Amino acid sequence: MKIDGRIIASEIKANLTQKISGLRQKNIIPQLAVVLIGNDPSSEAYVRQKLKVGGEIGAKVTLIRLNPDDTKENLIKIVKKLNTDKSIHGIIIQRPSPIEISKVELDLLVFPQKDVDGFHPDSPFTPPIASAVLKILMYVQKDLHNSLDITFNDWFKKQEVLVIGRGETAGKPIAETLNKLSNNITIAHSQTADLKNVCLASDIIITCVGRPNVVQHDMVSPNTLLIGVGLHQENGKLKTDYNQEEIAGKVAYYTPVPGGVGPVNVACLFENLIKSIRIDFK
Ligand SMILES: NC(=O)c1ccc[n+]([C@@H]2O[C@H](COP(=O)([O-])OP(=O)(O)OC[C@H]3O[C@@H](n4cnc5c(N)ncnc54)[C@H](OP(=O)(O)O)[C@@H]3O)[C@@H](O)[C@H]2O)c1
Repeated sequence: MKIDGRIIASEIKANLTQKISGLRQKNIIPQLAVVLIGNDPSSEAYVRQKLKVGGEIGAKVTLIRLNPDDTKENLIKIVKKLNTDKSIHGIIIQRPSPIEISKVELDLLVFPQKDVDGFHPDSPFTPPIASAVLKILMYVQKDLHNSLDITFNDWFKKQEVLVIGRGETAGKPIAETLNKLSNNITIAHSQTADLKNVCLASDIIITCVGRPNVVQHDMVSPNTLLIGVGLHQENGKLKTDYNQEEIAGKVAYYTPVPGGVGPVNVACLFENLIKSIRIDFK
């Protein structure tokens, strides 16, 4: 079955729209600042999505553009200003950053309470990509066990879960979040030997690579739940780490691209923005 991420996202957005309308009645306008350096087409596309969803739910999204040849000092100055601006509740610096800055330095730039992407080690927020994967898993568990008395956590602990990829924006935060819920999380990467058998031994496969055909039809079973986080371009179109047409009839559930993880990810980012208001104003 194809999992429709747009349905999951629209439930989250409906809930946020209601919360934001309540906040606006108290003259609080949730505002996300997006710092975009350069004009990488994928980054531009992600930012457009954030602007669109912000508009749909009534949150303000302010885009701050920097040139790729801008200085690190200027980037730091701009983020520092946003950190202390009371009208800004969340800040994201779209990655990858064409301005040369170490990952550690970049992660520490945004104040933890405004770090809605969850990169700062003290950020109170679950990275949106990890929340998105969790929401998709919850959706599937509900579909499987609607009438049975089993909680998500109990169900999840029984699943053999494989995360393919250990990158900073997808595999790592997802694995870290899932590890808090279960001891059955395996991580695979470019050096993993016999990925096929590791996949076949898993109930849930979350692939976070960004290359074609990482997971192929003979690496899955009719019970597999397959989530495609990794993205790459093919003839101008976004694709995930598996061939959807090939995999569709071979697994129990899979996420498509477009309309899979992406929309849920953006909705979860705005969930964090609304949570950050509670942190700001308590
Ligand atoms: N859908 C969304 O909303 C969303 C959000 C965030 C990110 N993404 C996408 O997620 C992908 C990963 O991003 P990232 O920044 O976390 O990753 P990254 O830093 O590019 O890392 C890629 C990971 O994949 C592993 N890998 C490469 N080739 C492999 C292979 N043939 N088999 C198994 N593993 C392999 C690498 O292994 P090594 O560690 O051994 O090098 C590495 O851990 C990208 O395509 C990104 O665009 C999507």
